Amino acid sequence: MAKALVLGGTTGLVGQALARTLAAGGWETLTFSRTEGNLLDLDFLRGLLEKSGADVVFNALGWTRVDAAEEHPEEALLANRTLPDALARTLAAMGHGHLVHFSTDFVFSGPHDGLWRETDRPAPLSVYGRTKLAGEEAVLHALPDRSCIVRTAWLFGPGRSNFVDVILDACRRRDVVRVVHDQVGSPTYTLDLAQWCEKLARARATGIWHAVNSGVASWCELASEAIALTSGPCRVEPIPAADWPQAAQRPANSALDNGRLAEFLGEKPRPWPRALREYLFGACLQGAGGKEH
Ligand SMILES: NC(=O)c1ccc[n+]([C@@H]2O[C@H](COP(=O)([O-])OP(=O)(O)OC[C@H]3O[C@@H](n4cnc5c(N)ncnc54)[C@H](OP(=O)(O)O)[C@@H]3O)[C@@H](O)[C@H]2O)c1
Repeated sequence: MAKALVLGGTTGLVGQALARTLAAGGWETLTFSRTEGNLLDLDFLRGLLEKSGADVVFNALGWTRVDAAEEHPEEALLANRTLPDALARTLAAMGHGHLVHFSTDFVFSGPHDGLWRETDRPAPLSVYGRTKLAGEEAVLHALPDRSCIVRTAWLFGPGRSNFVDVILDACRRRDVVRVVHDQVGSPTYTLDLAQWCEKLARARATGIWHAVNSGVASWCELASEAIALTSGPCRVEPIPAADWPQAAQRPANSALDNGRLAEFLGEKPRPWPRALREYLFGACLQGAGGKEH
């Protein structure tokens, strides 16, 4: 049985989806949380990796608070660059273990016509994006033949509060929710992401992968779809990003091209609205054969 170690797998949005999917797929799955030790302690890190005997390490751990990173660049760098660098170097020295490392659409900047491909040049606008890009580079440098970078985006899924949950919660308490309409991206379901990553891991894929559901949306469109599907009572008021000041600058267009992933999977990842329906109502709505409306 293949062994997996999921960093961030106890509490993280992606990590929990991965742990669940891998265990269901027959992997012997270990998770790690911060209460178990300090991964920046290199002896502890090596001990953990050796003890786990992991064939694949999934690094779904990171500093993910995009705005807070602007005020805490050093802490963000430790989690997003120093740690993956140490992880990749340690695995390289051990001579065993593949690394699946998660990154973000926020390594890109807008404006950009169309979808960002793996070969496009990143140019992050924020501390978060810069630290994530530095983490990608460190992993690819230290462990080029035994790692892959999975860039994903705009996640919703069970286990931890996310944008869709926040909007639906706000909608229960208010008549109107104001949501940004001039930033677009690739909404993605964590349980779909976990399945693609399991396949990438089995194939010991290398290089950079854009792993998102198909279709593009603005934050406003994603919120409107979630509210419409749940027959929420409130109205969505589209606003420009300029009217919603945030500490970190975000790309106007960070939508990712999932063509490389589609080719690998042999099918296009399903459209985000269909994945959103499954998140909100459960898998039974997919029906036999999973018809798209
Ligand atoms: N969420 C999104 O929409 C999104 C979009 C694009 C890319 N991504 C990428 O996907 C990956 C996973 O994101 P996510 O949304 O699952 O993040 P998340 O829900 O914030 O989970 C991050 C995990 O990392 C752990 N962690 C953070 N710093 C740690 C430290 N110093 N030591 C030990 N554990 C630490 C957290 O533990 P605690 O719970 O104890 O804090 C949590 O388990 C990240 O690489 C992120 O950049 C996410």
